[in-house]
Amino acid sequence: MSKINKKDFLPYAKQSIDDDDIEAVISVLKSDFLTTGPVVTEFEDMFSEVLNVPHAVSCSSGSAALHLAYLSLDLGPGNYVVIPSVTFLATANMVLHTGAEIIFCDVDPKTGLASAETIREAIEFEGKRVSVITVVHMAGQIPDMQSISKLALELDVQVIEDACHALGSLDPSGDPVGRCSNSAATIFSLHPVKAIAGGEGGVITTRDAEIACSMRRIQNHGMIRQNFTDLNQALSENGQVNPWYYEMLNPGFNYRLSDIHAALAKQQLTKLKHFTEHRSSLVKRYDAIISTMPDDFRSFIRPSGRASCGEVAWHLYIVLIDFKGLGCDRFTVMQYLKSKGIGTQVHYLPLHMQPYYRKRYGKKYLPGAEDWYAQTLSLPLHVGMEYEDVDRVISVLSEALVKCR
Ligand SMILES: Cc1ncc(COP(=O)(O)O)c(C=O)c1O
Repeated sequence: MSKINKKDFLPYAKQSIDDDDIEAVISVLKSDFLTTGPVVTEFEDMFSEVLNVPHAVSCSSGSAALHLAYLSLDLGPGNYVVIPSVTFLATANMVLHTGAEIIFCDVDPKTGLASAETIREAIEFEGKRVSVITVVHMAGQIPDMQSISKLALELDVQVIEDACHALGSLDPSGDPVGRCSNSAATIFSLHPVKAIAGGEGGVITTRDAEIACSMRRIQNHGMIRQNFTDLNQALSENGQVNPWYYEMLNPGFNYRLSDIHAALAKQQLTKLKHFTEHRSSLVKRYDAIISTMPDDFRSFIRPSGRASCGEVAWHLYIVLIDFKGLGCDRFTVMQYLKSKGIGTQVHYLPLHMQPYYRKRYGKKYLPGAEDWYAQTLSLPLHVGMEYEDVDRVISVLSEALVKCR
């Protein structure tokens, strides 16, 4: 078998970097600030303007963003957070780092999204008083936030949106995800496979000035430089604030974003609309080809998505394939695609099935999440792709499904 040249390999996800991005980073390298400086502030301002939300706090990763959001809601030992089982590890792991515990809820096997019903079911099953519900915008889709926030109101709990997949998505009323119309805070990742790349980085948006202020403090060692609590120490003999003085209110972290990362993220943010439109045209191409395939094939493979979930900025193109019914296994299909130069991924092994969480919370059965996991396959979707790439992926996938039976 001929070897695939690395350059010809089509990965499932990839950043798109142009000369303007490179120039933006170079200009920071030539400036006075490498760590948090003016470009971070410019990036945060642009982010809050694009999402039409009062506060955007940047940080070092999407995981750090989750940690900051959870801590700013005062999560700690004795608290419980509901999390959909189908998500990336960080959504849950960061809860444990606050000392709180997790209740995993089920998802719709067709979309991978949690709903008010699956959340309520999980809470009632566990019989715990819950403090926070975290929803995950799987692949860019938006769960039914209205009914989830109605449930949150009824139970008097806060909602956090993990929108690492959904920068650029619009909710059914046309508001950008991150506007926090139905949540206390929304978090985003700037990891290179996401909608825009910062190398590493994260952002939390909120409408609540107190939450934003608390996150900024925790992000930087719990440090404040005004509104001091101990004026005896803060003031010099002439009554002026000592110029070196700062106070620590609680033990925070170094979760700061650097100007180097912010420069890349800011430049990428100017292209968000273009990126979203290009991905969307690729998704339409995938959908169109799949819809013309023979019925016996189409019944096994269908595009993801919900008609009523607003305008999705697709982060992943996921197909659900009845591998078991077809008599072929996913590993063999993925290997075949790889041998033809096509990368795929699985999003995700449900967290309640992770050995760590099975040990911590016991064996659980969440049928929707397990069905989703059995069938899910993420095909390549990124800005560097053209229609021919989509056509090739589907053609090779069809071959694989026939050959692997
Ligand atoms: C749903 C979700 N949550 C959280 C994260 C964590 O983001 P980061 O990798 O920037 O820490 C990711 C990133 O993969 C993610 O996909």
